[in-house]
Amino acid sequence: MEIGRIGFGTWGIGGGYWKADYTKDKEEIEAMKYWLSKGIRTIDTAEMYGGGHTEELVGEAIKREVRDDVFIISKVWSNHLHYEDLIKSGKASAKRVGTFLDLYLIHWPNDQVPLCESIRALETLVESGIARHIGVSNFDVPHLREALSCTRKYEIFANEIKYNYFYREPEKDIIPFCEENKIKVIAYEPLEKGAAARVGLKEALSYIMKRTVPIPKSSNKAHIDEIVNAVSGHS
Ligand SMILES: NC(=O)c1ccc[n+]([C@@H]2O[C@H](COP(=O)([O-])OP(=O)(O)OC[C@H]3O[C@@H](n4cnc5c(N)ncnc54)[C@H](OP(=O)(O)O)[C@@H]3O)[C@@H](O)[C@H]2O)c1
Repeated sequence: MEIGRIGFGTWGIGGGYWKADYTKDKEEIEAMKYWLSKGIRTIDTAEMYGGGHTEELVGEAIKREVRDDVFIISKVWSNHLHYEDLIKSGKASAKRVGTFLDLYLIHWPNDQVPLCESIRALETLVESGIARHIGVSNFDVPHLREALSCTRKYEIFANEIKYNYFYREPEKDIIPFCEENKIKVIAYEPLEKGAAARVGLKEALSYIMKRTVPIPKSSNKAHIDEIVNAVSGHS
């Protein structure tokens, strides 16, 4: 399966910054299954979220899905960007999710580690079947240019950045650069943490879906319904 026109995020599910929270596992798995049942089948997660527990919950939510009917994105944290560390992180994420990753991203750039070393590790993960596509997150244009110069066998598939109805800064240079270089843009915090509901989800999401793939987060079925209704005809 290819990436959807819209996906859903998992930040705050199963814990926070490198810290697991097991208290709401059942409800969180239910909420993710609800997204899937509504036809939103692109899922964004990361090794940092809940210190890996979020990926475990994603694994639970997709357990009974046909593998090719979901598109899973995960990310390697910026302290794991040396070659061996990145390989280890990619394998551990795939193990927690219980399957290969459709897209594996460098979560944040880290100028202490040569970017080409990290890209080489990402390419190795594709060769070994751990990831299908590689990409980056929070990369500005200079970082993107460098990343493009490092690839040998695989394209930079996507750049995941903050972008929403209220925050349009990326329209100045990052989005045009990605479009010129056929890099998909994934929009995180697409609801500006829920504030988008105030202008109307339909307007807020339609606006950013013209050029990007938003990944809103919600663990609330009524909110998920609102989002799904707002984008019906888009996904
Ligand atoms: N790459 C990166 O560096 C990066 C950084 C930040 C985020 N992300 C990814 O992007 C995803 C989305 O970003 P985000 O979660 O930070 O922010 P967001 O999607 O803009 O907003 C999420 C918040 O909005 C609320 N919400 C959802 N639907 C709503 C509705 N219909 N009405 C009112 N409130 C609503 C949610 O609460 P309920 O759960 O109660 O609905 C949640 O508190 C993350 O989950 C994560 O996967 C990536």
